[in-house]
Amino acid sequence: MKNLEFTIRIAETEDAEKIYHLLYDVGDEDVYIMTEPGERTIEDIRTLIREQSTNRNLILVVESYGDVVGVAGFVGGRFSKICHVVEIGMAIDKDFRDSGLGSILLREGIAWARKKGFRRLELGVFSTNQRALSLYKKFGFQEEGVRRNRYRVEGTWVDEILMAKFL
Ligand SMILES: CC(C)(COP(=O)(O)OP(=O)(O)OC[C@H]1O[C@@H](n2cnc3c(N)ncnc32)[C@H](O)[C@@H]1OP(=O)(O)O)[C@@H](O)C(=O)NCCC(=O)NCCS
Repeated sequence: MKNLEFTIRIAETEDAEKIYHLLYDVGDEDVYIMTEPGERTIEDIRTLIREQSTNRNLILVVESYGDVVGVAGFVGGRFSKICHVVEIGMAIDKDFRDSGLGSILLREGIAWARKKGFRRLELGVFSTNQRALSLYKKFGFQEEGVRRNRYRVEGTWVDEILMAKFL
């Protein structure tokens, strides 16, 4: 994409509604993320943003001309046996994909997790999501397993690929 102007910053509670609309639209595409439009509420998102104050979560947004066009969540494990684990989720508006934004968010999140002393990053990807699989592999994530038929997307069964990266 030419002349893309954007800022990457930590999410604030005022961003919750814009993030909601982004996740709504990506969910509506029905091929990439678990949630259907509206299944994650504005209040859910606000709570996640507020939980950054625990210092164990990071929510980054990509802002372009006042719109939130990308979001990434890095959520530290809440219980002692998984307190070294960070779970990752990401979504970029469809008009902004393949411009390197996902790579920037992931690079920032990995640096944050390393600085905080986390040891393991993990996520699940639809087996059909070639772009995401290729992005995570580029950053050194390895496939650990398959949860077969984990998702039912418009009447079709879709496997989930589990991936992880050790820091
Ligand atoms: C997955 C996602 C976060 C990646 O963000 P992005 O900004 O598009 O990613 P980037 O532009 O940094 O990198 C995408 C890479 O995938 C590659 N790619 C694109 N389409 C591809 C395909 N069909 N097969 C393989 N690789 C592909 C691009 O060439 C690029 O690789 P490169 O950096 O080596 O050139 C984004 O596309 C997105 O939000 N998709 C919809 C929601 C989603 O899938 N979320 C993740 C759920 S786990």
